[in-house]
Amino acid sequence: MPRHIYINKKIPSYNKIIQVSSDKSLSIRTVLLASQAVGVSKISNLLESEDVLNALKIIKKLGINFKKKKNFYEIYGFGLNGFNPKNNTTINAGNSGTLGRLILSLLIKTEKKIRLIGDKSLSKRDFSRVVKPLKLFGAKIKSIKNSLPVTIEGTSYIRPINYVENIGSAQIKTACCFGALNAPGTTIIRAKKSRNHTELLFKYLNIPIKIKSNKEYDLLEIKGLQQFNSFDYSIPGDISSSSFFIVLTVLSRNSKIMIKSVNVNESRIGIIKILRIMNCKIIFKNKKIYKGEKIADIIVKSSKILKPINCPASLNSSAIDELLLIFLVAGTKVQGVSSFSKLGELNKKESPRLNIAIKFLRMIGIKVLRNKDNIKIYGNPKLNLSGNYHIKNFLKDHRIFMMSCIAALTLGGNWKINDKDSINTSFPKFLNILKNLGANINWKKEKILLLLQ
Ligand code: S3P
Repeated sequence: MPRHIYINKKIPSYNKIIQVSSDKSLSIRTVLLASQAVGVSKISNLLESEDVLNALKIIKKLGINFKKKKNFYEIYGFGLNGFNPKNNTTINAGNSGTLGRLILSLLIKTEKKIRLIGDKSLSKRDFSRVVKPLKLFGAKIKSIKNSLPVTIEGTSYIRPINYVENIGSAQIKTACCFGALNAPGTTIIRAKKSRNHTELLFKYLNIPIKIKSNKEYDLLEIKGLQQFNSFDYSIPGDISSSSFFIVLTVLSRNSKIMIKSVNVNESRIGIIKILRIMNCKIIFKNKKIYKGEKIADIIVKSSKILKPINCPASLNSSAIDELLLIFLVAGTKVQGVSSFSKLGELNKKESPRLNIAIKFLRMIGIKVLRNKDNIKIYGNPKLNLSGNYHIKNFLKDHRIFMMSCIAALTLGGNWKINDKDSINTSFPKFLNILKNLGANINWKKEKILLLLQ
């Protein structure tokens, strides 16, 4: 099957209720925490995407069994530091930065040599951001040029750390929190605000954590070496996956969508806050709290022309995976110039997304000015495309693929978009949901052409 798709029709109007895939951050965290819990944990609605399946494969290789039942996974933990791998085991985090960085933090006390590898995209990403604090705990870690492969050798001589996380990265913060589990005494982390799923899970699991917050930072104190019991968890819908349909609807004509049971945790809804500032009407219904997480149904209607935004950089972290979509809205639905600042982290994702977003917008005729990590986007709500566009997506970035599909379905033109298989890392149902909404997506064209020759 070809690894690209063709889109050459805008999506017709729709009015539908959908359910997106489960939250990836929570899926990876609950699998990893269940591997350290005492007893059998049950996780239902686990996201069955490559990033999460790789998490399951890794814990299995490290000696933790799991079983897939009808609607849930059972994970059989032996308690803290319960991994029992052979020496020189290689584990593969595939495409997932979250998995790669978090699994290292659970290995600081495992007295075996473990080698972490990943795919081409992950092998280009920075690991020094977690290697640095994990070395402070006492683990021996080696990497070449701060990236994969990374070899870690844990030790029983772990000490707590006092660490300042200044990037606003939940992966670094969580690596420190997971490291703290195996450290005697109290680990103190001062972390620039980022998604707080780990803290909420620690509270739910009765892992001793104290949190003091101000506007920009959270101060976490975690008491280590406290066993925690196995748990049941049902993963809610993913706001990052929902965002593709929120923006599809904002950019489409006469359409409406309800996305059921989405995790709308404050630290994840930057996209909603930003779109609301631009004047989008987005409503949360049926709100409830589940084990500390806020869940709601999200209702969105097609938007009229929107207002530009001077986006506060403090919203970047809570919208980090959705910025590509936000730029697309700023470029094609807003009358006026929007500005975004301090976007350096975007270039450290599965592909250099800031560079790619700028190229993408310029390719479709939107003016973008760049000054270091700050950009200004000159919106053109009258844009209607008719040319040919090919998105090569060399690093197979799932979010570049999905954002391009949303652009193609709302702006016109003839599109060829690589790499269809990239969605398997986070959102395998993406194209099926689009098709159910009425999108005309073709990935058989090449095969048919070959047959005709
Ligand atoms: C994630 C945190 C974010 C995000 C990633 C998932 C997590 O990365 O981009 O997709 O689950 O903790 P950073 O924390 O590095 O910004």
